[in-house]
Parts: sequence; C-alpha cells; structure tokens
Amino acid sequence: MAKARTSYVCQNCGAITQRWQGKCESCGEWNTIVEEGAALGIGAASARRGVIGRPFPLEDLSGDSKPVERIVTGIGELDRVAGGGFVPGSATLIGGEPGIGKSTLLIQACAALARKGGRVVYVSGEESTEQVRLRAARLGLSQAPVQLAAQTLIEDIVATMGSGDAPQFVIVDSIQTMWTDSIESSPGTVSQVRSSAQALIRFAKNSGAALILVGHVTKDGQIAGPRVVEHMVDAVMSFEGEGAHAFRILRASKNRFGATDEIGVFEMTGAGLAEVANPSALFLAGRDGAAPGAAVFAGVEGARPLLVEIQALVAPSTLGTPRRAVVGWDSSRLAMVLAVLEAHAGLKLGQHDVYLNVAGGLRIAEPAADLAAAAALVSSLVGVALPHDGVYFGEIALSGAVRAVGHAGLRMKEAAKLGFTRASLSPLGRDNDEGARLAVFPVSSVASLVAEIAASGVARKVTK
Ligand code: TYD
Ligand code: MG
Repeated sequence: MAKARTSYVCQNCGAITQRWQGKCESCGEWNTIVEEGAALGIGAASARRGVIGRPFPLEDLSGDSKPVERIVTGIGELDRVAGGGFVPGSATLIGGEPGIGKSTLLIQACAALARKGGRVVYVSGEESTEQVRLRAARLGLSQAPVQLAAQTLIEDIVATMGSGDAPQFVIVDSIQTMWTDSIESSPGTVSQVRSSAQALIRFAKNSGAALILVGHVTKDGQIAGPRVVEHMVDAVMSFEGEGAHAFRILRASKNRFGATDEIGVFEMTGAGLAEVANPSALFLAGRDGAAPGAAVFAGVEGARPLLVEIQALVAPSTLGTPRRAVVGWDSSRLAMVLAVLEAHAGLKLGQHDVYLNVAGGLRIAEPAADLAAAAALVSSLVGVALPHDGVYFGEIALSGAVRAVGHAGLRMKEAAKLGFTRASLSPLGRDNDEGARLAVFPVSSVASLVAEIAASGVARKVTK
C-alpha cells in the first residue's frame, strides 16, 4: 500500500508545491497555500495491479454524427448564450459574485423546463430545500415539477440521479460546497472542487443530462475559485452586474457548442429575473439630453449593439490635486483621453475635477467608447449640450486621431432603430450602407471634435 502523500496546493491558481509557503510563486497570492491529500495520479492504480493499456480503434473526422437536439429551457436570453439551448451530456459553469442572482436565474430555468415535461433536478448545497421552496414561491414557481435536494456529498448525488429516469437538466448550486468521500480535504479546496466536478461531469456524459455547475467567484482567494473547473467544462458563463442596479448580463467566455460573443440581458425585478429584449432602451431610459456633459455611445457587447449614455462632469477644482473619478469605465483610459485632449486639442484640464459615469451601472471595456467619453468631457467643459439625437463611437489614438472601430453598420442600425438621426465617427469607419438612415458626421481628430462642439454652441447662441 502506497504511503498517503500530501502536497500543498494554492487555492487561488491550483499550483502544487512540495512544502508550505506563505506566498504562491505561481500566481503571487499570499496565504493561499493549503495542505491537501494528494491523489495517486493517473495510472497509479493500474500500475500496481500490473494492467497495461488496451489499444482502441481510431476514427475519421468524416464519421457519422447526429445533429444534437438541444435542451431549450424557455428562458430565451439563457438559451441564446448557451448557443440555442443546452447540449445533452454537456457541462456548463456559471460563475458570479454572491447575490448577483445565479440561483434565481437557474430555479427559473428549471421551472420553465420542468413545466415543459423534462425531468429536472436542482441540488442545492448552500440553501435548505425550505429556502429554495420559499424563493420558488416568491417567484410563483411552486407548482413546477422540479425535483429538489439539499445535499453536498457527490457519491449520494450521483447515486440518486442515476436511479430512475435519467434527468435532462441538473443544477448543482454551488460546486464549492460539494465534497467527495474519495479525497481527504475539506469542501471548497481545489482538490475537492476538482474531484467533485469530475464526478458530476462523468455522470452528465454517461447519462446525457445537461449539467450546470454554479461557482462563486470571490476576490480574496480563500475559497477555491472555480478556475480549476473552467478547463473541465464545455462552457463557462459569467453572470455580471452592479449590485445596486437592476440589470444583469450573462456572458459566455468559453463555449464548445456555440459562439462566445452572445450576451443575455436580464433585469432583476420583484418577481425574479426578467428578460430584456431591448437593452438599449433600458440603458437610455430617463435620459436628459438637454444638459451638457452627456453623450450617447453606440457600443457593441458581444455581438449585440448596446446604446448607453456616458456622463461627464468637468468643474474647476479647489483642491491642489484635482479629483478624477470614474464609474463603469477604465480610469487609465480616462487619463489617456484627458491627456490627448490637453495635448492635441489645447484643452486645459489640469485645474479641473473630472467625473465620468456610465449610466445604468454598465461596465464598458470597448476602446470604441473613447470618442463618446471625449465628447461628454468637452461638452461639460464648454457648457454646450450635444445634439439630443446623436451617437458617438471611435477609438482615440495617442496622436489625437480618431480611429475606426468594428461593427459600424450594426451600431448605426441600432441607433436608427431607437430614433437617433446622426452619428459621429471616424471618417475611415463607414464600412457599409446599413447606417445610411443616419446622417454621418466624420470626426478625424479630437481637435475637430472640440471645434465642432464649440461651433455648435456658438451657432446656438447666435440663433437665440
Ligand atoms: P440569488 O439568486 O440568491 O444570488 P446568488 O445565487 O447569485 O448568490 O439572488 C439574490 C439576490 O436577488 C437577493 O439579494 C435578492 C434579489 N432578488 C430580487 O431582487 N428579486 C427576486 O425575485 C429574487 C428571488 C431575488
Ligand atoms: Mg445562490
């Protein structure tokens, strides 16, 4: 009998070291290394029994394969992100911060599918069945024939699901709370999470159930992040949103059965998560177009156009070091845009506080938002409101030039649909005719942007 070995595993990145260390050399995190019982490794058991591998036939790429019939839950935005429904036998990891609404979304999906007649199992390792029932009652889903369990031992869960009809859809909420008897370390550690996920994924592949694992993402690395599981599953989705705002975005970062550039948009309401068919309208609701300092950015999230208002406030500062505060956008991106406006458009911002906010709580990562942010900043500084019916998009280069960005046609089409009539973009970015219903205002540099905004202010004063 081999001696039980232990190794030291970083709970943040999964790196293995031979002795305990305060700092993980692989990811640089502190206090994340925990002693765990080591698995014997692949082949260890058969090596002891003297078994050698058996050869198997190899196959052609052109072999027969049936088109898969996907499991459609009926929650359209969820099905869309999955690639048009979930593939039987696949495993999906849904990550997100605690309280964002993962359990709510999944119980709604379970109920919708169960009502259509599928066998649906929801295993909660975090909440008692009582709590899950209470939530379902609040959502008006009590009558849906979902099979519930509050269990954490993997062997029991697999045995239960394996008896009777094979389930179509299995939710395990969350993978961090699951543990397997085959490993001696506490639930939540990397080896437990990995082994539990492995056992569940094996069950899904054998039974044809679509498996959904819920994973908490914590910042401090104390609980094993679901990162180790990401490699094992077929699809990884993250559920994002600002706690204080109602909307949530479901995004796929890996999908073996669909595109990763789809997003699903939901709104958290008193009756659970509601699908948002027209996210731009949600983000533009309550817009005050007459005030200076607001520009509408025609963005693209995934493959979906999304219009959102960018608000800026530029005000003389009483502080030695003026404040720079930004919500929903990258602060170094703001610093760059401010520097370019100073260097290439002659604006003096060194004595001004600058605040930038993306309305609705959305986080924008696209460089295409540069032009809209710059327009909002200039508008606030000179006190001239931008045209109410205009949208902006374009990337600003350090030289002050406005560069073209992708999906110009898609952006303009969405803007036209929402009643906008003009678009300001790079002169190089008019890639097709789809936006033809919009009047296009080419902006070649930040200097011409400033000149145009200032001129429109003068023109309005003259006509008054
Ligand atoms: P939950 O699904 O428990 O989050 P997670 O599983 O990601 O931790 O959602 C919790 C939050 O959602 C909670 O703060 C309350 C809110 N909520 C609503 O606003 N409306 C509802 O109908 C429900 C069920 C929850
Ligand atoms: Mg939950």
